[in-house]
Amino acid sequence: MDSKKEIFRFTRRQFVTSSAAVLATSGLAHQANAITSVAGKRSEQGQSNGRSDGGIGRGPFRVIIDTDPGVDDALALLLAMRSPELKIEAITPVAGNVPLDLTLPNALRMVEIAGRTDIPVAAGARAPLMRRLVTATYAHGENGLGGAVFPEPTTKPVATPAAEMILQIVRKYPGEVTLIAIGPLTNIATALNSDPQLASMVRGLVMMGGSLSGGNITPAAEFNVYVDPEAARIVFQSGIPVTMVGLDVTRRTSLTDEHVRTLEAAQNPVSQAAAKIGRNAINHNRERGYLVGPNMHDSLAVAGFLDPSILKFQDYYVDVETTGELTAGETLGYTPVGGDLRRRPGMEKDAAATNMPIRGSAPTLAGTKTSPVLRDKFVPNTKVAVEVDSSKFFDLLIGRLSGSK
Ligand code: BDR
Ligand code: CA
Repeated sequence: MDSKKEIFRFTRRQFVTSSAAVLATSGLAHQANAITSVAGKRSEQGQSNGRSDGGIGRGPFRVIIDTDPGVDDALALLLAMRSPELKIEAITPVAGNVPLDLTLPNALRMVEIAGRTDIPVAAGARAPLMRRLVTATYAHGENGLGGAVFPEPTTKPVATPAAEMILQIVRKYPGEVTLIAIGPLTNIATALNSDPQLASMVRGLVMMGGSLSGGNITPAAEFNVYVDPEAARIVFQSGIPVTMVGLDVTRRTSLTDEHVRTLEAAQNPVSQAAAKIGRNAINHNRERGYLVGPNMHDSLAVAGFLDPSILKFQDYYVDVETTGELTAGETLGYTPVGGDLRRRPGMEKDAAATNMPIRGSAPTLAGTKTSPVLRDKFVPNTKVAVEVDSSKFFDLLIGRLSGSK
């Protein structure tokens, strides 16, 4: 079996093994070995159905989708609900692109459109952990769906709050549940704050968020991490094996008129709804003179979980800037070859490189810290998506939504 197909499904033990293997590699070989290191290690949960079309068709994998719909969230939810590989245990809306009063009904609308009212929807946080909510109506419209209007949902959320729901489900299926987080990480951090054991009980976390190549809401920060940087920091530092699908790859997922025409042509409710949202979002962007997008950021995180061959990864230690006046929400990716002193080819194989400490800013005179060292040596905590096969992604997204795949 192609080991790339296993990349999202690594267990905690495999993550540690792969991380150790990565230390002995370099450049793209570094990444290839990261992938190789999980080769042949089968997921405990998902089993192949014998298909060989790029990793899709396996499972089902238990997931919880944490989301702030959101144009691209809405399509990501529809994609997930049309994907037999996923056993969606819950959807947990959070405030982000628009306030919770809109993300919650938008999520409920999507489960109704997909005919999946069997999936519990649990209301999450109304505000970030320590900040005022900043929304992204400039990108998603006032209603969060690019202005596309759907009837009020009749389905109700469950009574259990999102963070509690996450804990209950993960405790029920220890080691089996993957969190797919496509909004600010407030709900996940709240669950971790309430029970840090959660980190050792989840299978992993796949997030759309962050960037190692500049932000979209500030030059430094990607929106989801910008909205709740403290929550993101808790998640990255929790010990959960994180897969980060950030702007480095999601910038290459611009929805086009042609995609929308394909969706419009398919006569099923999911495709029609996706087309309506996509058409409105494209018009929204054009009216404002935006040159690109709407990008299908969140669908790429889901698609990469369904078919990891869509993405390529590199191991990093990722941390989040939380105190910067201009840079809060920036994600920093450390590698053994990440500093000028470490750039000699092959040096990443040396203990000298991997033993280099991970440094933060120099301590201030006013503070209590005396050392900038955050970690004594390089230990990766995140697989960062660094390359994307955009056409393969859109084949999967549009194919699933339109019902042709
Ligand atoms: C992320 O921010 C939101 O606006 C999108 O839904 C996506 O999750 C992209 O930066
Ligand atoms: Ca989102």
